[in-house]
Amino acid sequence: MFSEKIVSNLSNSSWIRQMFEEGVRLSEKYGADKVYDYSLGNPYAEPPVEVIESLKKHVLGNEKGLHKYMNNAGYPEAREKIAQSLKKESNLELCAKNVVMTVGAAGGLNVVLKALLNPLEEVIVFAPYFVEYNSYVDNNGGKIVIVPPDTSTFEPDLEAFEKSITIKTKAIIINNPNNPTGVVYSEETIKNIEKIITKKEEEYGITIFVISDQPYCEIVYDNIKIPSLLSIFKNAIIVNSFSKSLGLAGERIGYIAASSRIEDVEILMTALAYCNRTLGFVNAPGLFQMVVGDTINIKIDNSGYEKRRNYLYEKLTNLGFECVKPQGAFYLFPKALIDDDIAFVKAAVKYNLLLVPGSGFGCPGYFRMSYCVKFDMIENSIAAFEKLVEEFK
Ligand SMILES: Cc1ncc(COP(=O)(O)O)c(C=O)c1O
Repeated sequence: MFSEKIVSNLSNSSWIRQMFEEGVRLSEKYGADKVYDYSLGNPYAEPPVEVIESLKKHVLGNEKGLHKYMNNAGYPEAREKIAQSLKKESNLELCAKNVVMTVGAAGGLNVVLKALLNPLEEVIVFAPYFVEYNSYVDNNGGKIVIVPPDTSTFEPDLEAFEKSITIKTKAIIINNPNNPTGVVYSEETIKNIEKIITKKEEEYGITIFVISDQPYCEIVYDNIKIPSLLSIFKNAIIVNSFSKSLGLAGERIGYIAASSRIEDVEILMTALAYCNRTLGFVNAPGLFQMVVGDTINIKIDNSGYEKRRNYLYEKLTNLGFECVKPQGAFYLFPKALIDDDIAFVKAAVKYNLLLVPGSGFGCPGYFRMSYCVKFDMIENSIAAFEKLVEEFK
């Protein structure tokens, strides 16, 4: 009666959501303070005061036309401010015309893939990867190609990447800092990816677009700098959102920015606005376009996340977990204490610990912890980790 494909996908649905729902169930049973939920990447912090001030200004300022339909690409003022901020980091000639406002990064990725892909063209991702990419590529008629992980560093395996490129490759997705590992790919790695792409483009006579999925680009530690993909790749398309950096995940606001170096970029921009409309988004939420335009240059305070990273990394490695120290995002990706990460995560539920198996990110044998949660929950969870470790000694 319903779509067979969707009904069959339901039984395979996201581990993140499954563990989150398990957390809700356990909280009702034992009380929220007895449950240690590391499942969802939902920032604990409230949006910065500048966001609230901007909201008040627009809502209370009685601006006429604020709540109407607009150009499918979004308000020119917000797009121009985003373009100017990207221009500073990349030195490219960018303006409002290079930007389309979107319904979060998730909406942006679907719009980009819709605008780029012919049936069964290939999109390369590096494992471990944000599992929703499978659906986004499939939604838009493409075929996902997964480059296996290099678990020693969780940087992309470049040899495997080169082998994965075929004449059907249309795009790659780079997610830096990475969800689920929190690893920041180095500038050297990114430049080597560029060399491989240029070589393969010449060999096959194709164009490969680089989609930079970067909702965590403002959340970095140790004074590390994220390489600007607009500066490095000719065919760069940025997909970003304010879900994580400004704590606005529920407001669904993000953008796409395409490099001015892309051939026929005007056609691409028209196609992106068209796909924003025809996928049913129509346009990004209007009020929040104004707000992110106002706050695009505010300094984000990451000290709360850094404190959590330091505390958890130290506690878990002292307990014997192997883990690459993350330099961005708000995730840890330790090795499970047994090969079967799903069995391991199920065992953790006994101690009210909600973790997400690495299998859900194309990387079995590991598990993800999302530490954008209250600090006292993290402190209280350590005893539960001790019991879990004891079980597998
Ligand atoms: C890597 C990655 N890309 C995209 C998204 C989607 O984010 P948004 O809320 O902006 O749609 C997420 C959300 O967790 C993510 O982790």
